Amino acid sequence: MNREADSDADRRFDSAHAEDVVADEVRDTNPVCYRSEAPILRTECISLSFGGVRALIDVGFDVLTGEILSIIGPNGAGKTSMANVISGLYRPTSGRIFFKGQDRTASSPQAVAALGIARTFQNLALFRGLTVIENILVGRHLHMRTGLFAGGIHWGPARREELENRRRVEEIVEFLNLTEYRTRAADTLPYGLQKRVELGRSLAAEPAMLILDEPMAGMNRQEKEDMVRVVVDANVDLKTTIILIEHDMSVVMDISDRVVVLDHGEKIAEGDAETVRQDEAVIRAYLGQDA
Ligand SMILES: Nc1ncnc2c1ncn2[C@@H]1O[C@H](COP(=O)(O)OP(=O)(O)OP(=O)(O)O)[C@@H](O)[C@H]1O
Ligand SMILES: [Mg+2]
Repeated sequence: MNREADSDADRRFDSAHAEDVVADEVRDTNPVCYRSEAPILRTECISLSFGGVRALIDVGFDVLTGEILSIIGPNGAGKTSMANVISGLYRPTSGRIFFKGQDRTASSPQAVAALGIARTFQNLALFRGLTVIENILVGRHLHMRTGLFAGGIHWGPARREELENRRRVEEIVEFLNLTEYRTRAADTLPYGLQKRVELGRSLAAEPAMLILDEPMAGMNRQEKEDMVRVVVDANVDLKTTIILIEHDMSVVMDISDRVVVLDHGEKIAEGDAETVRQDEAVIRAYLGQDA
C-alpha cells in the first residue's frame, strides 16, 4: 500500500496516543484474577440488513468473561448496530448469539436485560425532571417486584425491597462520586455528569456484561478522564465484563484487553490493541474515513 498513506495513518494513531487520558495507577491496578478464557458472549456470523443497507455482514467474535473488549471502526461501520443486536433491540437477519452458553438470538430486550446485559446509548437517555437518585433507581426495575416509586404506606416485604433498592442506588451514587448531586434534577447537570448518571442507571441493574456506546463522545479531557476511571472501576471492582464502543484511540489503546474492528459492516481485525493498531486493513479503513 501507499507509503504516504501509511505514515499518515501512523501519525493519526500517534497523535491520538499522545493525548494519554488514562492515569498510570488506573492501568496498574487492573487485576486479571477473575478473567477467564471462557466467553460470556459469543456472536456467530451476524448479519443485519435494513432494506438495501447491509449494516452487518457475517460478524462474529467472543467476549471473554471479565474483559474490556472495544469495538472500533469509522462512522457507519456497524458498531451501534452490533450493540443493538447483542442487546436484543434488533433481531439479526442471520447468525446466532450465545450468552453464558445459552442461545438467545431471538430474545427480547427485556429478556436480554434479565439475563444480565445492560447498556448505555450513544445519545443521552435520561428522564427529564427526575433526580439523579430517581434516574438510577429506574435501573433497579429488574430487581423490583412492587413497581417503581410505589407510593403510600406499605410494610413488610415491599418496604424491605424498597429499602434494599434505595441502599443499592446510594452505593452506586457513591461509587460514581455523584453524592453531592444526588437530589439534583439529572438533566440540569453538566453533560459529563449526565453521562455518568446514565452509566449509573445501567450499573444499577447489576449486569454481568455492560455495553457502552461511545460513553465519552463530546466530553472534555477532564470528563473523559473521570469516565475512563469509572469504566475501569466497574470492570475491576464490580467485575463487569465490558463492551466499549469508542472513537478515542488513546482510551481504546489504554484500557482494552482486546479490540474488534468493524468497517462497512464487516469485521476487519481482532486482537490486542497493539496488534490492531498496526494492522494494515485497520489503517486503511481509518484513512478511508478522511478521504
Ligand atoms: N435503523 C436503521 N435503519 C436504516 N439504516 C440503519 C439503521 N441503523 C443503522 N443503519 C445503517 O447501518 C449502517 C451502520 O450504522 P451504525 O449506526 O451501526 O454505525 P456506527 O458504527 O455505530 O457509526 P457511528 O460511529 O457514526 O455511530 C449505516 O450505514 C447506517 O446508516
Ligand atoms: Mg454508533
